[in-house]
Amino acid sequence: MSYKKLLTVFAPLLFFALLLPQTVFAQESANCLACHSAMKGKLKTSGGTLIELNVDTEKFRSSVHGSLSCTDCHMRFSDNPHSSPSASVPPQVLSISSRISSKHGVDPVAAAACNRCHEEIYNKVLGSVHGKNITDKNQTDGALCLDCHGSPHYITSAKDPTSKISRENQVETCGRCHGDKKIIEKYNLQENVMNSFQESFHGRKLHLGHMRAPVCASCHNSHDIKSKNDPSSPVFGKNKLQTCGKCHEGANEKFISAITHRPPGPIPHYAEKALILLTMGVFAFVVLHVLLEAFSDIRDAIFRKEREE
Ligand code: HEC
Ligand code: HEC
Ligand code: HEC
Ligand code: HEC
Ligand code: HEC
Ligand code: HEC
Ligand code: HEC
Repeated sequence: MSYKKLLTVFAPLLFFALLLPQTVFAQESANCLACHSAMKGKLKTSGGTLIELNVDTEKFRSSVHGSLSCTDCHMRFSDNPHSSPSASVPPQVLSISSRISSKHGVDPVAAAACNRCHEEIYNKVLGSVHGKNITDKNQTDGALCLDCHGSPHYITSAKDPTSKISRENQVETCGRCHGDKKIIEKYNLQENVMNSFQESFHGRKLHLGHMRAPVCASCHNSHDIKSKNDPSSPVFGKNKLQTCGKCHEGANEKFISAITHRPPGPIPHYAEKALILLTMGVFAFVVLHVLLEAFSDIRDAIFRKEREE
C-alpha cells in the first residue's frame, strides 16, 4: 500500500478517534444540563439542606473545568438522570468523601473528587489548620476548596479579577471567616486580623493598587496554611526571614519582628494626624486670605463708588 493510500484510510479513522471522547463527554454533560440549565431556584432535600438546581451552561463552559463531564466529579451520578447512585468510586475518593461529609452533605463524593486531579493540593488542605478543623476536630468552620474558590461549576483562573482568590478579592474571601466575631472568639484568634491588616502598611498599599503589596496567601500560603504557633508555618519565628525576604531583600531578624497585623505604631499614627491638621490649617488660611482679600476689594470698590458720587 502506498503512503497516500494509507493516509486516506487512516486519516478519517484518526479524525473520528479524536472526536469520539469529546462527543461522549459533551453528550453526558448535555444530558445533565438539559434539566439543570432549565431548572431554576432552590429545593429543600429530605435532609433539610437547600440545593441550587440551576447550572448555567455558558458559565460552566467558560470555567477552567468547562471541558469536564459532570460525572468526572459527580461520580455516583453515572446513571442518567440519577435513579440509582451506584457507580463505583475509587477508594481514595470514597475515603475522603466520608471524612468531609459533615461539610458537604449534598454530594460529598463530588467534593472529594477534586483529589483525582489535584491530589497534592488536596493533601495539603487536609493537613492544614483548615482541613484538620473538619477531619480531626469534627467542626465545619474550617475552609475547604469551595470556601475559597467559590461555586464548583464556575471556577476561573486565579489571575481572573472576578476569581474569589484574585488579588482584588482574596482579602474579602479570607475575611468572610477571619473578620467574623464568632469564629475569632470560638478559636481564640487574635483580635480581628482583618482590621489590623487593612490598617497596616501592606493593607494600605494593596488598597492603593500597589502591584507587589502582599495579600493573605503571600505570607500564609494558600493550601498548607498552619497555625502561627506551628514550627512549619511560614510566619513562625525565623521562617519569616524567608517569607518576608521574598519581597524585602536582605530582611534580617530586626526587620521581620515588625508585627504585620498591627496598624503602624503610635509615631506614624500621630505624624499622620499632625500632617492632616497642618494641611487643613494651611488650606483654611489660604481660603480665609482669599475671602478677606475679596471682601476688601469689594469694600474698596463700594467706597470708591460712593466717593465718586
Ligand atoms: C430529568 C431531569 C434531570 C436530569 C437529566 C439530571 N438531573 Fe440532577 N436533579 C434533577 C432534579 C429534579 C433534582 C432535585 C431532586 C432530586 O435530587 O432528585 C436534581 C438534583 C441533582 C443534584 C443535587 C443532589 C441530589 O442528590 O439531589 C445533583 C448533584 C445533580 N442533580 C446532578 C446531576 C448530574 C451529574 C446529572 C447528569 C448525569 C443530572 N443531575 C441529570 C433533575 C435532573
Ligand atoms: C469540578 C467538579 C464538578 C463538576 C465538573 C460539576 N460539579 Fe456539580 N457540584 C460539585 C460539587 C463539589 C458540589 C457541591 C457538593 C456539596 O456541597 O455537597 C456540586 C453541586 C452540584 C449541585 C447541587 C447544588 C448545590 O446547591 O449544592 C448540582 C445540581 C450540580 N452540582 C450539578 C452539576 C451538573 C449538571 C454538572 C455538569 C454540567 C456539574 N454539576 C459539574 C462539583 C462539580
Ligand atoms: C477530572 C479532572 C479534574 C477534577 C475532578 C477537578 N479539576 Fe480542577 N482543574 C482540572 C484541570 C485540567 C485544570 C487546569 C485548567 C487549566 O490549567 O487551564 C484545573 C484547574 C483548577 C483550578 C485552577 C484555577 C487557576 O487558578 O488556574 C482550580 C482552583 C481547580 N481546578 C479546583 C478544583 C476543585 C475545587 C475541584 C473539585 C470540586 C476540581 N478542581 C476538580 C481538572 C480537574
Ligand atoms: C484557604 C483558601 C483556599 C482553600 C481552602 C483552597 N484553595 Fe486553592 N488556591 C487558593 C489561593 C489563594 C490560590 C492562588 C495561589 C496563587 O495565586 O499562587 C489557589 C490556587 C489553586 C490552584 C491553582 C494554582 C496551583 O497552585 O496549582 C488550584 C488547582 C487549586 N487552588 C485547587 C484547590 C483545591 C482542589 C482545593 C481543595 C482541596 C483548594 N484549592 C482549596 C486558596 C485556597
Ligand atoms: C506580610 C505578611 C502577612 C500578611 C500579608 C498577612 N499575614 Fe496573617 N500573619 C502574619 C504573621 C507574621 C502572623 C503571626 C502573628 C503576628 O505577628 O501578628 C500572622 C497571623 C495570622 C493569624 C493568626 C492570628 C492569631 O492570633 O491566631 C491569622 C488568622 C492570619 N494571620 C490571617 C491573615 C489573613 C486573613 C490575611 C489577609 C487579610 C493575612 N493574615 C495577611 C503575616 C501576614
Ligand atoms: C470558611 C471559613 C474560612 C476561610 C474562608 C478561611 N479561613 Fe482561615 N481559619 C478558619 C478557621 C475556623 C480557623 C481555625 C481553625 C482551628 O483552629 O481549628 C482558621 C485558621 C487560620 C489560620 C491559623 C490561625 C492560628 O491559629 O494561628 C490562618 C493563618 C488562616 N486561617 C489563614 C487563612 C487565609 C490566609 C485564608 C484565605 C486564603 C483563610 N484563612 C480562609 C476559617 C476560614
Ligand atoms: C508579596 C510581597 C511582600 C511580602 C511577602 C512582605 N512585604 Fe512588606 N512590603 C511590601 C511592599 C510592596 C511594601 C511597600 C514598599 C514601598 O512602597 O516602599 C512593603 C512595606 C513594608 C514595610 C514598611 C516599609 C519598609 O520598607 O520599611 C514593612 C515594615 C514591611 N513591609 C514588613 C514586612 C514583614 C515583616 C514581612 C514578613 C512578615 C513582609 N513585609 C512581607 C511587600 C511585601
